[in-house]
Order: sequence, then structure tokens, then C-alpha cells
Amino acid sequence: MTLIKSGGYQITIGKKALNGLSAYLAKNRYSSLYILCDENTLQCCLPTLVISCKALAQAQVIEIESGESAKSMAFCAQVLQTLAENGADKKALLINLGGGVVSDLGGFSASVYKRGLHFINVPTSLLAMADASVGGKTGVDFAGIKNLVGAFAQPQAVFIYPEFLKTLPQRHVVNGLAEIYKIALVSDLKFWNELKNQTKKPDQETLIAKSVFLKNKIVAKDPFDKGLRKILNFGHTIGHALESLLLETESELLHGEAVVQGMIIESHLSFQKKLISKADLSEICSVLLYNFKPQRLPDLPVEKIIAMMRNDKKTKAGKFNFSLPVKIGACRFDVDVSEQQVKKAFLYYQSLYNDKT
Ligand SMILES: NC(=O)c1ccc[n+]([C@@H]2O[C@H](COP(=O)([O-])OP(=O)(O)OC[C@H]3O[C@@H](n4cnc5c(N)ncnc54)[C@H](O)[C@@H]3O)[C@@H](O)[C@H]2O)c1
Repeated sequence: MTLIKSGGYQITIGKKALNGLSAYLAKNRYSSLYILCDENTLQCCLPTLVISCKALAQAQVIEIESGESAKSMAFCAQVLQTLAENGADKKALLINLGGGVVSDLGGFSASVYKRGLHFINVPTSLLAMADASVGGKTGVDFAGIKNLVGAFAQPQAVFIYPEFLKTLPQRHVVNGLAEIYKIALVSDLKFWNELKNQTKKPDQETLIAKSVFLKNKIVAKDPFDKGLRKILNFGHTIGHALESLLLETESELLHGEAVVQGMIIESHLSFQKKLISKADLSEICSVLLYNFKPQRLPDLPVEKIIAMMRNDKKTKAGKFNFSLPVKIGACRFDVDVSEQQVKKAFLYYQSLYNDKT
């Protein structure tokens, strides 16, 4: 079992994590308990959770549909409505049982209900275990833009039970690995080398614990994203633009898939800015291409992607501010990049596929 202290709360990782949740509920008396899940975690994870934590037998379950489309104001309203109809008071607790969609939506809903309800994250996808459930960023997509509306809100605790991953579809396992490779790439050369050189299936609990430890170390230094924490956005400026544009189309990307494409394109920006060498660019791209097999980009005019990037929270006064690697294992934030350089980086991405045909 791994215990990691974060700003004001504890993250428990391991086979006994749900016992930790049980003990937490026995110690902290709440007036009522709510569990937010989507249709898949309701089926695959809720029964185990309730068997492990007897106190949850009385909890009210709030079910949302699965997928990114549920990370919306409409579903936030559904959560708030259920809390209100059931008379949830300030001493109620919301438990977010699901992937990053559930923890982002649930955390945000809890943060605005009566100006702040306690909530706990019990992540069930690899992406949520390794990344989204910790760090206090919550929110929903709005007006077709990822995470446009949100709040910083810390959970009371996070309980990570890797056994939940047994039912996670393989595409979502790979999706979660993307954020793990990202954290290694921006902050820890040794971890990157371990990932790069692994020959057998890695132990998921170890990967999660390392990723959470590294993210937590960065967030502790800059909880509100004013400086250092921005390095975690590597791959996300381009990634979010692609994810938003392709949302609800037949080329829809999972978050991690968009971030992989974003990391390749942004690495080329880093190379253009002479921050990384050609050798580093080649290494990053070949490791990501080999492990994630990202798709060729669908026919999207770069202008449209650039227009979407202008809505990114990191864009200030019309300037694109990127977080870019300066070598493998280190990253710089607030790097000013021109539209021309972005276009060139997209051409580079497409050329990786042209070379193969
Ligand atoms: N707040 C943050 O710091 C942060 C960081 C990274 C990503 N995110 C956000 O996280 C979201 C993506 O999270 P995600 O990839 O977990 O997506 P998700 O929540 O949609 O979960 C992925 C899919 O797996 C299913 N699922 C989850 N756990 C399961 C299990 N144990 N068994 C079977 N099915 C299961 C879900 O129902 C869903 O269909 C994005 O909206 C992204 O913006 C937030």
C-alpha cells in the first residue's frame, strides 16, 4: 500500500485502499452519502465498492451517461438537482466513482453546491488513477471548449484501488498510459527510461504510484497553475484543440490519444525553438509512435485548430504559450510560439505518416 500526502489530504493506493475508505467513513460522520458514477462504473465498480464499505449501502447513487459528453453543465445540473431534491446539506459527502469525467464533473458540482461540499475521489480508469483524481482541477466542457468552466477544489481524500482496472477496456488503458508517459517526459528522465525500456507488462500499481508522486510534487509547489504546474500541460494545448474539434465526430479522440498527438507536435515546436536536439525529438517521437500508434490526423484545416487554440486558457493577449521540453525529463513553461511554427509542427506530424507510405 502506498500513502502519499497531498495539500491537506491523503492519497491511498493499493489492494487495501477500499478498507481505507471504510475507515475514513467510520471516522468522519456525514449527514448523507452520494455516489456519482457512470453507467459502466455503476456496473463494474459500484458492487465491489459497496461490499467493501458497508456504510455505502445507504448511499444515494447518481448515475450519468459515460463519456466526455457527460462533462457538461447539463450533467452538472443533474447532479445539483439530485443533491437538492434529496435535501443534501453542507455535511453531505459526494464520492466520485469513475474515470476523469466523473471526478472532473463531480468535483466541480461539489465545489459549487452550497459553496462547497466535501468530496472523495475513487478513480476507476488508469487516466484518473494516475492523473485526473489528484491535483484539485475540476470542471466541465462548455461552448464546445474543453474545461472552459471549472474550479480548483481539493478532495478530502483519494482512494486508488488498481483492481478496478481489470474491467477497463484496453483502449482506455492505453489512453491512461499517455498521461504517465507525459509526466515522465516533463519531470523525470529515469522514469522515462524505465518506461521506454520496459520489456514486460509493467506493474500498474507501481506506475500509478510513480505518476501520482511526481504530479503531487509539482502541484505542491504551484497548486493554482501560476508557474511550474503549467509543465503538466505539455501536449495539451494542441491536444485539447484536437479533442474539442473532434468531439462527437466519427474521429473523436480520447483525452490521452489527443495528448499523444499533442506531445509529438509540441515536441517539434520545442525543436524549432532549439530547446531540444534532433536526437531528443526522434527519441520522443519514436517512443510515442511505437507505444501509442496515434492516428494520422483527419482532414482539419490548421487554421481551424489555431482558432480553437486561441480559446485555450494558456493563450494570453493572442500569444500562444506552450509548455515545451528542454530535454527529456525537463520542461519549460510560457514559451512563446508563432502561428507559423505551429503550422510547421503540424506538417511534421503528417510527414511521419507520409514517410511510411
Ligand atoms: N482534472 C485533471 O487534472 C485531469 C487530468 C487529466 C485528464 N482529465 C480529464 O479526464 C477525462 C478523461 O478521463 P478518462 O479517460 O478516465 O475518461 P472517462 O471518465 O470517460 O472513462 C473512460 C471510460 O472508461 C469507463 N470506465 C472507467 N472505469 C472503468 C472500469 N473500472 N471498468 C470499466 N469501464 C470503466 C468509463 O465508463 C468510460 O467509458 C477528460 O475529460 C480529461 O479532460 C482531468
